[in-house]
Amino acid sequence: MIAAPAFEEGASGHQGTGKVPRHVAIIMDGNGRWAKQRGLPRAAGHRAGAEAVRRALQAAADNGVEVLTLYAFSSENWRRSEEEISDLTALMRFYLEREFKTLAKEGVRLKLIGDYSAFGGELVERLERAVERTAGNSRVTLVVALNYGSRAEIAGAARKLAGRAAAGEIDAASIDEEAIAGELQTADLPTLDLLIRTSGEVRLSNFLLWQAAYAELLFIETLWPDFDERTFGDALRTYAARERRFGGRG
Ligand code: FPP
Repeated sequence: MIAAPAFEEGASGHQGTGKVPRHVAIIMDGNGRWAKQRGLPRAAGHRAGAEAVRRALQAAADNGVEVLTLYAFSSENWRRSEEEISDLTALMRFYLEREFKTLAKEGVRLKLIGDYSAFGGELVERLERAVERTAGNSRVTLVVALNYGSRAEIAGAARKLAGRAAAGEIDAASIDEEAIAGELQTADLPTLDLLIRTSGEVRLSNFLLWQAAYAELLFIETLWPDFDERTFGDALRTYAARERRFGGRG
């Protein structure tokens, strides 16, 4: 079960020094291994992972991070067993039901990226309702990537621009980086500053490939269900200590 203490103000320890990333993304990895280490079914790992989601969101809000983007379900995750997929979707439905009021009340805006329509009627309706009902919130934006794949996202942007060029609305020669970025599902979000992957895996796994071009990458050993406010604070300190040059030498 998801423990649901109040979504508190100022509960985590990080003292910001000014170099707080505006946009943090996390590849939440290691739920299965966490469960295995305890002799529990994978579903128990995902449930514990959902608790880590609320801690990460709390920590993001407390530290003044504007956007937290979470890779909840990749387009490759459909290869998992039917049972695991249904556990994951049930968990998302449960999380939405249980957390929605708190999220809305605490000023969280929910946004979805990915082709989430693949999840089918009822869950999609719930998700869209939650997006609509939190649209006016501004404390922190929680972006949930569902059935997301970065290459598909970039291909979609290219397709849209090509369609417009073919229709004579734009000149194909004018299609530049900004035009592509403007068609990505993240177009309305601040630039990605920090991308974290948990559980010791060192891959991007088709997540935010375009957006991560100049992001700081952080690969940590912590398994996702163990991720908490302290882990988040450590990540922010590591980020603050890095010198970002964006390709320049300055
Ligand atoms: C990776 O662990 C995790 C996932 C595929 C799912 C992440 C989903 C949640 C935490 C559920 C809740 C999400 C929301 C937004 C409420 P893994 O199963 O790949 O772990 P392993 O590599 O150790 O097997």
